[in-house]
Amino acid sequence: MKDFKRTLITSALPYANGPVHIGHLAGVYVPADIYARYLRMKGEEVLFVGGSDEHGVPITIKAKKEGVTPQDIVDRYHNIIKKSFADLGISFDVYGRTTSETHRRTASDFFRRLYEKGEFIEKTSEQLYDEQAGQFLADRYVTGTCPHCGNEHAYGDQCEQCGTSLNATDLINPKSAITGNTPVLRETSHWYLPLDKWEPRLRQWILEEHKEWKSNVYGQCKSWLDMGLQPRAVSRDLDWGIPVPVEGAEGKVLYVWFDAPIGYISNTIDCVGDDWERWWKDPSTRMLHFIGKDNIVFHCIVFPAMLMADGSYNLPDNVPANEFLNLEDDKISTSRNYAVWLHEYLQELPGRQDELRYVLTANAPETKDNNFTWQDYQARVNSELVAIFGNFVNRAVVLMHKYYEGAVPARGELLDIDRTMMAEVQESVKRLGENLDNFKFREGLKEAMNVARIGNKYLADCEPWKLIKTDPERVKTIMNLAAQLCANLAVVFEPFTPFSAARLAETFHMQQLRWDMAGRLDLIADGLVTEKAPLLFEKVEDSVVEAQVEKLRKTVEQNLLDAWQPEAVKSDVSYDDFARMDIRVGRVTECMKVPKSKKLLEFRIDDGMGGRTILSGIAASYQPEDLIGKEICFIANFPPRKMMGRESNGMILSAVNPDGSLTVIGPQGEVKPGSTVG
Ligand code: MF3
Ligand code: ZN
Repeated sequence: MKDFKRTLITSALPYANGPVHIGHLAGVYVPADIYARYLRMKGEEVLFVGGSDEHGVPITIKAKKEGVTPQDIVDRYHNIIKKSFADLGISFDVYGRTTSETHRRTASDFFRRLYEKGEFIEKTSEQLYDEQAGQFLADRYVTGTCPHCGNEHAYGDQCEQCGTSLNATDLINPKSAITGNTPVLRETSHWYLPLDKWEPRLRQWILEEHKEWKSNVYGQCKSWLDMGLQPRAVSRDLDWGIPVPVEGAEGKVLYVWFDAPIGYISNTIDCVGDDWERWWKDPSTRMLHFIGKDNIVFHCIVFPAMLMADGSYNLPDNVPANEFLNLEDDKISTSRNYAVWLHEYLQELPGRQDELRYVLTANAPETKDNNFTWQDYQARVNSELVAIFGNFVNRAVVLMHKYYEGAVPARGELLDIDRTMMAEVQESVKRLGENLDNFKFREGLKEAMNVARIGNKYLADCEPWKLIKTDPERVKTIMNLAAQLCANLAVVFEPFTPFSAARLAETFHMQQLRWDMAGRLDLIADGLVTEKAPLLFEKVEDSVVEAQVEKLRKTVEQNLLDAWQPEAVKSDVSYDDFARMDIRVGRVTECMKVPKSKKLLEFRIDDGMGGRTILSGIAASYQPEDLIGKEICFIANFPPRKMMGRESNGMILSAVNPDGSLTVIGPQGEVKPGSTVG
């Protein structure tokens, strides 16, 4: 690895069209924060840049839907996002926004520089246009069928089903997201960045010089490069965005994916002022982009091509992109409101920031998509954080107070068991560092937890609570080492669970946590009086899990209702066709479950003609006793049918609900059993 003097860490700028959720956190912000904290603890010079991405079509669509301005939308979400990141302990050095004045100037200058260097191609082409709305339809303003996978809900910039990035004109059966109309084609001119021009350099740089990148990142880049790069439009006909800063560009703005990555630069400027070039242009600065997998092409190909076209910037040294996190086996979705939202989590589970950081890291989608479930959250908090980490610290500190009024005793001669324990800690710490160096945060976290496991085992093996009566001198050594282990836990957990690490550090009056302290068993001075045992983690009760699962279930139910549409009307029938059906009113006199069948209920119906038996597949929607005495409608002239060895004479009518459940149909007033319906 090259010798770098400092590291610029960027994390994808989240769109300010909604709050951030656990998928964003697990994919980008928690790993970026762990890494930033780790480097700072190593004494390295770090700048950790974040901010909101406040342009792009989804924001304008949301504004239109709510009848407010796009600025209202981004103001709202920028503030929510910024605060929730801070509350989770994401240690940005700056959290900016792309509607800032600095950013408008920086992005405009960037465009103008490339424009003046002749790095763009100006091209006229036919684009989709909504005549009723009077505007061009770019990106998310159009939906239609994906030409690659047939998904009928693909967007004009991307199909979320197969992940292909699209042009709006590629869509089959395009529809305007504004009016629902079919758009027409109209000529317009735009500026294009000729990615093909940079292809050879990009190939060399990624495929030859960065074979160490994560395989998911490298693989995606390779497949893009192998398909061949095309010029890419960097402007749009929209009224929300940064105006294209050249003559004759009225009504045109920079494409959001052109301006947003420049936001990393703008936010650096907002943070360090004139010193910014050191972070972007000095070759001894290392740049890392933490992103999710849907951002790979923009950070590995498009933005680097922009930087190459400028010619004065560094390129990223690594792009540790993660895969996606699912939630309870379903895709997280901002538009469907199906997520665990960070700001709600912080409100509903106050004081549990570290628990979330821990679980998301332990389950991070580093090499493949992963799944978050509340049950797993509970299990990890209760059986790892509480039962291993919290328990060790608690035992050690409680004993310290019981035997020595909190003062850490000096240790005597070390035994083999002590040396073995120390060696194990040092090995774990070493592997932890290696994992973090290679962006393997999940594995790293296991090693940190291993230090606590080692501590628990050490106490269990040494049994100071027994020795205290027979060999109090030996207990001093054990308890001294236990204190050193606690100090180590504060150090190794700082990047992962900074709030608990800080509480632990306070307990032992540690002034500063540095990485070179990890693995040392002489961190706490003899005689230091510790505070009382801190409460590091609290058990998650079943009721908490149940409430969260129920909340998600309600969202899914609401989505079903919102998306529900009546089935299309069937083709015409004649009155005669209808008249051949004999529909009657009947009264349920008996109703029972059919043994061995999940679906069927057996009804005895008073049909005014001596009664009949009907079997109906509604057991999932009703308890048998619910329907006894009720009047229902049934088809009386179906031929008898055998089901589960019983004979059914007719069919009970019911309506199908959005969730697939059934509601039996009956008369509104009193009707004599046997009456015909027509
Ligand atoms: N807003 C984009 C997203 O959420 C990420 C932008 S990253 C940046 O997918 F580099 F463009 F800033
Ligand atoms: Zn597709």
